[in-house]
Amino acid sequence: VKNVILSIESSCDDTSIGLTEIETVRPIFYRKVSQELEHSAYGGVVPELASRLHIEIFPKLIKEVTILLKNDFNLKAIAVTTEPGLSVTLIEGVVVAKALSISYGVPLISVNHLVGHIYSTFIDEVELKNNFLTLLVSGGHTQLIKIENILYKDSFKVIGSSLDDSLGESFDKVAKMLNLGYPGGPIIEKLALNGNENRFNFSVPLSQSSKIAFSYSGLKNSVRLAIEKEKSLNSTLNEQFICDLSASFQKVATDHILQKIKKYLKNSHNKFEYLSIVGGVSANKYIREKISSFLKNKFNITTIYPKIEYCSDNALMIGRYGVELYKQKKFSELNEINIKTKSIF
Ligand code: KG4
Ligand code: ZN
Repeated sequence: VKNVILSIESSCDDTSIGLTEIETVRPIFYRKVSQELEHSAYGGVVPELASRLHIEIFPKLIKEVTILLKNDFNLKAIAVTTEPGLSVTLIEGVVVAKALSISYGVPLISVNHLVGHIYSTFIDEVELKNNFLTLLVSGGHTQLIKIENILYKDSFKVIGSSLDDSLGESFDKVAKMLNLGYPGGPIIEKLALNGNENRFNFSVPLSQSSKIAFSYSGLKNSVRLAIEKEKSLNSTLNEQFICDLSASFQKVATDHILQKIKKYLKNSHNKFEYLSIVGGVSANKYIREKISSFLKNKFNITTIYPKIEYCSDNALMIGRYGVELYKQKKFSELNEINIKTKSIF
């Protein structure tokens, strides 16, 4: 009989459940129901709607996993995302986890979603890495982080963060301005393939500043002005304009990150072998390729990323981190486990 951890993720608009074998860290079971379509009409996630949908979806997924648990596996613990995220959706995952913890008589493990993303490159990989850099680019975060010891989140050092919008959010907002739907990232990436990235000469954010920080509100505003200008000339935005604008935005957004990573590496005394890109935006092939070739050529650093299907929110990254917390016996009491909408680590 295999020992497993059940993991639960509901920090935003994905309802997800996984089973991870403790010894091999092999994913045994994985389900994710994305609510993208439902939120698409609103151009972003509506917490109230997300909350209602999680309640509908969870019982179906739980039913599936309990059938599996009856036969072949020995459940040892339940890992659940408790921070950061939307309060009304986090709480639902935690309630489900509590109920399962009582009925199976197993302990709870509280998991930080951001650390979960950092573990997403190690789903199905027993060996972890230490002393590397992570670029966390999601709908909520843009951060460059130094990971000294991946087993201890207290050793994580945030080198730079976003001063305003996150990278994922800015993709979403640009898509919204162009009426393209939600989430904007994959849509902009696809349109950019047919666009001229040099048509709009947007300036790279914070390029004159020596600070390691990220900002997308200025770039987003430049995009808005370009759209307004075009609308004043032509009543409708033509396809080529949209593709060129998408490509130019994506290019400058990426150049901004490259400049900041370069600035950090040039002044850092540390040597790094690896940089991982994680979070929803890490699914973007243009960004992956641009960052990885830059880092290889200029700093001989190897870029790693999660499998495409594990870039966005999922329960397996929560389970992978859960396995390490389980080994360290980092359990949470039933009446003490709590959600937090914001967190660094
Ligand atoms: O990590 P994630 O699934 O959820 C959060 O924890 O925030 O990230 C979602 C974000 C959205 O903003 C979405 O537009 C962006 O990731 N995203 C992308 C791509 N796929 C998803 N951004 C750029 N290119 C993509 N291919
Ligand atoms: Zn996420």
